[in-house]
Amino acid sequence: MPCGATICGVGSYVPERILTNADLEQMVDTSDEWIVSHTGIRERRIAADNQASSDLAIMAAQRALQDAAVRPEDLNLVIVNTLTPDMSFPATACLVEDAIGATNAGAFDMSSGCTGFIYALATGANFIRIQDYEYVLVISAETLTRITNWTDRSTCVLFGDGAGAAVLKPCREGEGLLSYALESYGEHGDLLMLPGGGSRLRLTPELIAQHKDCLEMEGPEIFKLAVRGIPAVAKTALDKAGVSAAQVTAVVMHQANKRILDAAGQRLGIPTERIVCTIDKYGNTSASSVPLALDDIYRRGQLHPGDIVLFVGFGAGFTLGAAVFRWTLEPFSNTTSAPAH
Ligand code: ACO
Repeated sequence: MPCGATICGVGSYVPERILTNADLEQMVDTSDEWIVSHTGIRERRIAADNQASSDLAIMAAQRALQDAAVRPEDLNLVIVNTLTPDMSFPATACLVEDAIGATNAGAFDMSSGCTGFIYALATGANFIRIQDYEYVLVISAETLTRITNWTDRSTCVLFGDGAGAAVLKPCREGEGLLSYALESYGEHGDLLMLPGGGSRLRLTPELIAQHKDCLEMEGPEIFKLAVRGIPAVAKTALDKAGVSAAQVTAVVMHQANKRILDAAGQRLGIPTERIVCTIDKYGNTSASSVPLALDDIYRRGQLHPGDIVLFVGFGAGFTLGAAVFRWTLEPFSNTTSAPAH
């Protein structure tokens, strides 16, 4: 009798347009040297004018379904985690459900900042474990560059657009998702926010002129919280799974800053080569960065059944989350490139 949940297909999508550090040097007072040395970012993807988050989500979802060899009509549930929905409502998940033809699925959105994919994985897995669902599609999709203040050099060099998805299905206990830990420190919510446009602050032309329709971030404070919080939440999840850091094959972490990846790896005692890094080519894509990084190593054929994969996220909220998987998918057969666009 299956009572676990595992990933049976992965997919991702990034828009075609590339914005390089050299391009940014023409827009704000910055330099390639500063951006690379402080963040590790070399370029990021920018959604086309006619692409909303759902368009990115649909592409990633279709690739994940194809990889899983699951028909859209066999899905029971579609979950989208995003900070940048197409609109407040209807939910982006409903738009995706319709577009991919998931005619028998329920659909809802979640908002957990850059920790989003881990919150969505845990939620989807529980629908499988508790509700006997057969297939759940979990997606993170972001168009952060739509809420970027392009005159603020301290944030505009960081963000990019993209989407990633995974299909979950039941599995034997002891495989797939072994454990997770989800945390929230709401008292630090003001460190990263989109102040205008919600029910608290209705946008006016004056507020838009002050960029209140754009993301605001206290970067150095988040840096400190992340470097302290990541090892703690990861250790909680590893302990719950009964797995040591030495047994971890790959760490798929939120890609906010190469220095955070390195510092967290050091504190966890996990060698750098086991920490997946895609920040150089995509920047910080918020909730999408974890599934984009997952798809990257998966499509390179670097994950094998039995591998222990540690997912870790942190971001707006302030949220933190970690999940430990015993990987069950065979290595992806086409090792050409990942992800295609
Ligand atoms: N180009 C050149 N100089 C810059 C730039 C830039 N793009 N941005 C800032 N500077 C300058 C500052 O003005 C400052 O100058 P000063 O010393 O003369 O005052 C100097 O560089 C240092 O600035 P800091 O902000 O202290 O730089 P830091 O090394 O902390 O790097 C950064 C900033 C990259 C934002 C880092 O703090 C960081 O990555 N923080 C974490 C962000 C994060 O993890 N967010 C996660 C969640 S994202 C989400 O949920 C959507």
